[in-house]
Amino acid sequence: MKIMNVKEIAQELDLTQATVRKKVSSNELPILQAGRAFISTETGLNYYKFTQEHKITLDSLKKKAKILSFVNHKGGCSKTTTAYTIASLLQSFGNKVLLVDLDPQGNSTQSVLEPFLDKDGITLPYPKTIKNLLLERKEGGEVGIKRIKEVIQASKFGFDCIPCDLSLNSIMPDLESSSFKEVILKELLNEISSEYDYIILDTPPTLGFSVVSALTASDYVAIVTLAEAFSLLGVEQTVNLINSVKSQNSVLARPRQMKILGIVISKAEMNTNISRHFVNELQNFSDERNITLFIDDIIPKTTKIPETQATGELITIVDPRGDAAISYFNIALLMDMEIKKDRIKEKLSN
Ligand SMILES: Nc1ncnc2c1ncn2[C@@H]1O[C@H](COP(=O)(O)OP(=O)(O)OP(=O)(O)O)[C@@H](O)[C@H]1O
Ligand SMILES: [Mg+2]
Repeated sequence: MKIMNVKEIAQELDLTQATVRKKVSSNELPILQAGRAFISTETGLNYYKFTQEHKITLDSLKKKAKILSFVNHKGGCSKTTTAYTIASLLQSFGNKVLLVDLDPQGNSTQSVLEPFLDKDGITLPYPKTIKNLLLERKEGGEVGIKRIKEVIQASKFGFDCIPCDLSLNSIMPDLESSSFKEVILKELLNEISSEYDYIILDTPPTLGFSVVSALTASDYVAIVTLAEAFSLLGVEQTVNLINSVKSQNSVLARPRQMKILGIVISKAEMNTNISRHFVNELQNFSDERNITLFIDDIIPKTTKIPETQATGELITIVDPRGDAAISYFNIALLMDMEIKKDRIKEKLSN
């Protein structure tokens, strides 16, 4: 993957290096920071050109969060890693981002928030999580911005986060018995939509309440998969689930679009025949259904990712020149561009 330094970025954009640095500090030009150096990619420059071209329209858009969920009911295929890495990149491009953890395993929460400690340094559960909001809303309470803000925490990486932990499981029977269960989350997120550009949902590896609620609330969906047999099956089942939730939701007032933004391939070992075979299978699958496959930006398997999770860091900060960071950077740019294009279309059609 070709990486450009400031000199090359300046040459490509016909700007001085000083102007490039100014545009980086005003968030106009997306970059990855490698020590004191800035780096970018062709996709980064295309993003810059696109946002400059549509600057007036983009600046005139009101804040109204687009909701994007990361799904695949197959476990361990990098949903969480991808959700919070993309959340941090979208924030670094100048968007205001909220990450909502909907998985009782709480892996997003553990990855992006400082632990909640008592005065003796003992780790305690977060006092308020998504569970409290869902339960209060289900019981018919007014859960407005003020209440939701009491649960929102600032993450280590610049964006906000609504945490989750195992206690979400304890209210599942209650939620499942509610006749309007799937729209509880959609309505909750509506309340804070004017505060953010993006609300990112990290979902558990199930087909239950959390995932159906996340889809029901989502304008966009990204499917994350490994290049292997069971994950491919998971992608197919996830696409079927999205279609079935879409058709069930057609009776709702203002149903969400649930547009599939694309399929992200993670933990790939492209030097093995098996990974290459399943990437081909994914290509056929996505071509047949006209779904984007981020094939030029496959996330490679690297021990650096679990290492960053052990040290509480981000791959884009620890190893910005590595293929994993560069692929995530490009995918986040492509997603942001696609959504901004849709917003421009929406604006022009109104
Ligand atoms: N590119 C990668 N290379 C190597 N390991 C990775 C990579 N991406 C994620 N991992 C590791 O894979 C494991 C699963 O990742 P992650 O928790 O993001 O998956 P998940 O789909 O959210 O899992 P779950 O279904 O349990 O929610 C973690 O241990 C993580 O460190
Ligand atoms: Mg997860």
